[in-house]
Amino acid sequence: MRMNERHYEIAVLAGDGIGPEITAAAVHVLNKAAACYGFTLCYTEAKIGGAAIDDCDVPLPQETIAVCRKTHAILLGAVGGPKWEMCTSNQRPEDGLLGIRKALGLYANLRPTVIYPALRDASPIKAKNIGEQLDILVVRELTGGIYFGERGMKEKDGIVYAYDTERYSVPEIERIARVAFELAMKRSRKVCSVDKANVLVSSQLWRKTVSALAEDYPDVTLEHMYVDNCAMQLVRDPAQFDVILTSNMFGDILSDEASMISGSIGLLPSASLNETKLGLFEPAHGSAPGIAGKNIANPLAAILSASMLLRYSLDELKAAQAIELAVATALQTARTQDIYEDDTDITLVGCAEMGALVADLLE
Ligand code: NAD
Ligand code: IPM
Ligand code: MN
Repeated sequence: MRMNERHYEIAVLAGDGIGPEITAAAVHVLNKAAACYGFTLCYTEAKIGGAAIDDCDVPLPQETIAVCRKTHAILLGAVGGPKWEMCTSNQRPEDGLLGIRKALGLYANLRPTVIYPALRDASPIKAKNIGEQLDILVVRELTGGIYFGERGMKEKDGIVYAYDTERYSVPEIERIARVAFELAMKRSRKVCSVDKANVLVSSQLWRKTVSALAEDYPDVTLEHMYVDNCAMQLVRDPAQFDVILTSNMFGDILSDEASMISGSIGLLPSASLNETKLGLFEPAHGSAPGIAGKNIANPLAAILSASMLLRYSLDELKAAQAIELAVATALQTARTQDIYEDDTDITLVGCAEMGALVADLLE
């Protein structure tokens, strides 16, 4: 194989708050993975979120979309922060993120929660309730629902009111459900579809559509669960879940909750995929303004997002697996402050040091 057949262009959208430091750590690890596994990477940086508002007055410049379209994959840090809280609706940093998801049609958001053996004690859930192994994959619909439905703020008879609309079509539900069933076929063959069908009409359509599609997957066991119950079950008995299939908003909330079972939101990566190989990879957490610029953020969610980038967009599976293994190994000796416990012989490390440690373990 010629060397340049494994050359990849990556767009880096570092964003705001801790975005630049965690992204730098992930790039450090990617560079080492490339050197170890014989491929080459070239990065193009582009602005998004508050950083783009500061530079170009908009959260998602056309130039950024153009850069992303030309690459093999996109690595994103985080967007948002108090500095831009006064921005008007549709021009907030978060609109940059929603905009790039929509522009590239990234409808399938995969958010895996696993429990690392070294971190069993860092989980707020009792070890006996976690079970032997924990491996939950939240499959979140990402370009529809209440995030993108009709919205507005109006005034009637002197009273101001605002509304957002949850709306799903059958094809939108079918395509995300298909992703969940296909992934479940490669795992424990269990899908739990989460909705609020006891109240919402959109959820009733969701449930009916998912049930109909399940007939194409006779080997997968499908369960339906109301979202309030799911929030409770995730804490009571997380080991019951394999693939959780859900809407944009429920997935946003449940994936943050699931991340905490592993010990920290700083451990939860994500992949946002469309029908092509091009994907966007970002931690599920935000810009954590309170700890930005202090070199104390946990870069592992960003590093594991880079691993998902190698797996899903570049097909560099060996490098992806090696990063996952290096993360598990690193956690046996070193931790950032969010998962650090004083009474152990674990070393407290900063964001850059954790990135360097994971990179070193790729030897
Ligand atoms: P957040 O995820 O930024 O922070 C929540 C808490 O988790 C904070 O205590 C923070 O310090 C901690 N935390 C988050 N990531 C961490 C890491 N890697 N290491 C250690 N601790 C970490 O959520 P928030 O405070 O609700 O939001 C802050 C800003 O981020 C808001 O503007 C929000 O809109 C934005 N946001 C962006 C994304 C994204 O870019 N994908 C996701 C969520 C929130
Ligand atoms: C996430 C974030 C985003 C979302 C925000 C920042 C738009 O919370 O990626 O989970 O709600 O999707
Ligand atoms: Mn979120």
